[in-house]
Amino acid sequence: MLEVNSVNKSYGKRHVLTDFSMSAEQGEIIGLVGENGAGKSTLLKILATLSKPDSGELYLNGKPYKKYFKAHRTVIGYVPQDIAIWEDLTVIENMKFFQKLSPAKKSVHELKTLLNDIQLDRHDTKVSKLSGGMKRKLNLAISLINNPEFLLLDEPTAGIDLKSRIEIGEFLKTHAKNNDTLIIYTSHDMNEIKDLCDRVVIIGKDSFYKDLLAEYIK
Ligand SMILES: Nc1ncnc2c1ncn2[C@@H]1O[C@H](COP(=O)(O)OP(=O)(O)OP(=O)(O)O)[C@@H](O)[C@H]1O
Ligand SMILES: [Mg+2]
Repeated sequence: MLEVNSVNKSYGKRHVLTDFSMSAEQGEIIGLVGENGAGKSTLLKILATLSKPDSGELYLNGKPYKKYFKAHRTVIGYVPQDIAIWEDLTVIENMKFFQKLSPAKKSVHELKTLLNDIQLDRHDTKVSKLSGGMKRKLNLAISLINNPEFLLLDEPTAGIDLKSRIEIGEFLKTHAKNNDTLIIYTSHDMNEIKDLCDRVVIIGKDSFYKDLLAEYIK
C-alpha cells in the first residue's frame, strides 16, 4: 500500500508539486494524468526513490521512504519516460545485464519467459534494430526482473502502435491481478486510461483534465 501525504517539490522558484497527496492499494492500476509539465515524471521519480521531495511524507506498506528507501528500492520497478537500455546489446543480453544488477536471481529461461509474456520474441536482435514499441516492451520487461510489488511506468505506451499498446495493456492488467502488483502509470491517451485503469489521479491545477475525465468516465 502506498501513501503520499502533502508532498512539495520545487526546481528553483518553480513549484512543481504543491501539497500533493494520494493513496493506493496493492493490485490497483492507477492512471496519472495531467498536462505537459504538470509534474507526473517528477512524482514518479520521487515514488521510485530517485528524487526526494522538499517536504511531505511517503510510505510504502506503512514504512516511511525516508528511513526505508533502500529496502523500498528492491520492491519497486520503474520505467523512465526516456527509454534506458543498451542499444549495442541484444534483447536477451540487456535482460542478463539488468538481471545482474537486480537482487532477484532469474535463469535465462525465466528471462526469456518474461519477454515472451510481454510478446517480445526477438531475443537475439540488437536493440538498435528494434522498433520504438519493442524497445518500450524491453524496458518494461527489465523493470519486472525483480518481481516488483510496485510498478511505476512513465508513458510506457507513448509513440507505439495500437497492437503493441493493446498487448502492453492486457499484459499489465493480467500482471497486476495475478501478482497483486500496484501499478501507477502515466499516459496522454484517455481511451487507454479508461480501458486500463481502476482509478485516475489528476496532477496539477488544470480543470481541463477533470472535465475531460468526467466526459470519459460517465
Ligand atoms: N531536473 C529538473 N530541473 C529543473 N526543472 C525540472 C527538472 N525536472 C523537471 N523540471 C521541470 O518541472 C516541471 C515538471 O516536469 P515533469 O517532467 O515532472 O512534467 P510531466 O508532467 O512529466 O510532463 P510531460 O507530460 O511533458 O512528460 C517542468 O516545468 C519541468 O521543466
Ligand atoms: Mg513526464
